[in-house]
Amino acid sequence: MVIARGESPAALKCTESLFTLGNGFIGVRGGVEEDARSTAPVVHLNGVYEVTPITYHEKAPGFAEASDTRIPVPDGTLIGLTIEGEPLDLSTGTVLAHHRWLDLRTGVLHRSLRWRSPAGRTVRLATERLVVEDHPGPVVIQYQVTAEDFTAEVVVDSCLAPHQPPAADAAGVHDPRVGPQLAALAFRRWIVEDGIDGMVLRTGRSRQGVAVVMSHAVTLTGGGPVLVNSLRDQGIVSHTVRATLAPGAVLTLVKSVAYAADKGEDSTPADDALAAAAVAALRRATAIGLPGLRQARTQALQDFWLSSDIAIDGAPELERAVRFNLFQLLQGAGRDGLTSVGAKGQSGEGYEGHYFWDAEIFALPVLVYTRPAVARAILEYRHRTLDGARAHARAMGHRKGALYPWRTIGGAECSAYFPAGSAQYHINADIAHAVRQYMDASGDDDFLVRHGAEIVFETARLWLDMGHYNPRRGGRFCIHEVTGPDEYTAMVDNNLYTNAMAQAHLEYAAEVAARLGREKPEAFARIAAAISLGAEEAEGWGQAAAAMYLPYDEASGLYPQDDSFLDKKPWDFAGTPANHHPLLMHYHPLVLYRHQVCKQADAVLAFCLLPHRFEPEAVRRSFAFYEAVTVHDSTLSAGVFALLAARLGQMDKALAYFKDTALVDLDDLHHNTGHGLHMAAMAGSWMALVQGFAGLHALGGTLRFTPTLPPGWSGYRFRLDFRGNRIEVAVGCDAATSYRLLAGPGLALSHHGQVVHLTPTTPEQVAPEQVMEGARHATL
Ligand code: BGC
Repeated sequence: MVIARGESPAALKCTESLFTLGNGFIGVRGGVEEDARSTAPVVHLNGVYEVTPITYHEKAPGFAEASDTRIPVPDGTLIGLTIEGEPLDLSTGTVLAHHRWLDLRTGVLHRSLRWRSPAGRTVRLATERLVVEDHPGPVVIQYQVTAEDFTAEVVVDSCLAPHQPPAADAAGVHDPRVGPQLAALAFRRWIVEDGIDGMVLRTGRSRQGVAVVMSHAVTLTGGGPVLVNSLRDQGIVSHTVRATLAPGAVLTLVKSVAYAADKGEDSTPADDALAAAAVAALRRATAIGLPGLRQARTQALQDFWLSSDIAIDGAPELERAVRFNLFQLLQGAGRDGLTSVGAKGQSGEGYEGHYFWDAEIFALPVLVYTRPAVARAILEYRHRTLDGARAHARAMGHRKGALYPWRTIGGAECSAYFPAGSAQYHINADIAHAVRQYMDASGDDDFLVRHGAEIVFETARLWLDMGHYNPRRGGRFCIHEVTGPDEYTAMVDNNLYTNAMAQAHLEYAAEVAARLGREKPEAFARIAAAISLGAEEAEGWGQAAAAMYLPYDEASGLYPQDDSFLDKKPWDFAGTPANHHPLLMHYHPLVLYRHQVCKQADAVLAFCLLPHRFEPEAVRRSFAFYEAVTVHDSTLSAGVFALLAARLGQMDKALAYFKDTALVDLDDLHHNTGHGLHMAAMAGSWMALVQGFAGLHALGGTLRFTPTLPPGWSGYRFRLDFRGNRIEVAVGCDAATSYRLLAGPGLALSHHGQVVHLTPTTPEQVAPEQVMEGARHATL
């Protein structure tokens, strides 16, 4: 449960993000019902965007042509209250008590308000808000008004209204992490049906349609006349309820709002079909009724917690934070195979709703082990957009293969700044890594044959096209002119992360080709024919992987981030004023690029994802080096540093970084939670705990753990789904660990290198703590 802490405009905006409700499709920010103050759009639909052309003054071939910007859809949460002509407005009258809380077990956002109007009438308001789980499940709000000490006419005005973007000059300082707000939906027609009101709208360029409908049920304790009236005007639908309340009388309004979206025809039949889909979703929900919907949502969350819950003994604040993060990550993750996880989910307008590598490198590991079906759906989205990635590769000068866009919704590259956009070729390897991680944990060959193999092959092709065997590096395979994850260093040669991930990608592509050729020759022949893949090409992948150049500096014993990083001028950290952070808001990129300063984990992430590639002592030295030059201006960074610090046994540091990622939004650590929740950082808290403190590593298909206990904790527990098994790992005092098989046929796992067998007849094994330092080294 999360309780709101403040009502200042800044705190309110942050709270609106924290109280977002969603189901992977709809995201409803948690503003208060009567509030027209919010400048942020309230409702977003995953995958619903408008295309806006990008204008360059100097344009070169291959530059992104346009950006997909997710658009706000009409707000269904608005409900105004007027008592004898006095509007409920928290900035007037007296707030006697106001609490809002989000229940992570039921998914219900509660509000309880006691307010005295300027004329002295005291009213109690209790609301419950719920987003129904099923796609495209409606939003339901129960709005209950109790008159405490007056007899007067109460008017409840419930609306569906388009979002009004703030005036251009109200936007203030330009922040590149926030996209433009577009009012891109044009009105097409009203929907009026038997107690249901709504509208159909369409975008101009992306050919997307949205239908939104609402209906209401009204009750008044003790009876009495209730007048209801609907009005449609200027794109707004309002439904007004009037009743006279005496002291103790309770007026209850249950408002249900359903959304539907399509992509395609700009035609009357398409509008009708869309309207029918929204109406059907609304009718389904109202037929079930609020108690049934509440129960279904609770049941769905119970299932989620059964597979995903994390408990931390001795750190209740962190336990609550990790649970909150998991809840929000689940809400933000698309699950229809047509959408993915945006950098902010559907919780805010930050980053225009774009999908980045955040989805595969951060969100996906969590989903792979807790919600494998959602993980698969997210990878299916990448398969669905493979043609866009092929087109992008051609635009970037590659004759074959696919290059996934750095940021996108519909599948085309949307980055207007290629040094920190398309130059991040590592996205291809990140997606291949995600496919491999999903495959290792699921063994889902159906996915591999239908989608995964084609993704892995098409993306692997790019490395051979762009890299080369460099005679000046002893014939090693080198990759030039790319940007790694650290966006304060751009356009470099042999970025360690990119080369190491490309190596793993090429190895995996060769391995998949060989395995499918052996085990599923027909399927393999079909895929190979579809993409004109010859046997010699797959052999070439293996050769390039074996010859991959990974920079290592003998003199310092460090893994340099790239060929030039160690030569660069050190950044003057001591002389940087505190108010010049984050650096991206204060310095031209070139100033950053020419210095030894990292925005976020780069080489450190490579050490985490591919521990077997690097020599442990050099990793330890390199960690200390990168710690000193990293400013963590990206929220993606802290979780990665926590993970590696934990694996290195540096537990105090690991815990400090863990707090930074776990509390990133609850404590608004980067002062921009108001623009939306940081999905990757939230996922980072799971990664730091499960893959860092507990040392989970599973590449290759075997679960391996090296558990440790952070200082101040007396234990922690988590659950994982792996190859049809569900297990619980409980780490207690002195890191003694018990492994429990909760479901499934059983498996063998490794605990500090020792094999532990879990079977239905011996479902639980307790493993004592190991000699930490030695054992941890062995796993790096
Ligand atoms: C980070 C990227 C990330 C993006 C979206 C940027 O600040 O540097 O790595 O993908 O945010 O979260």
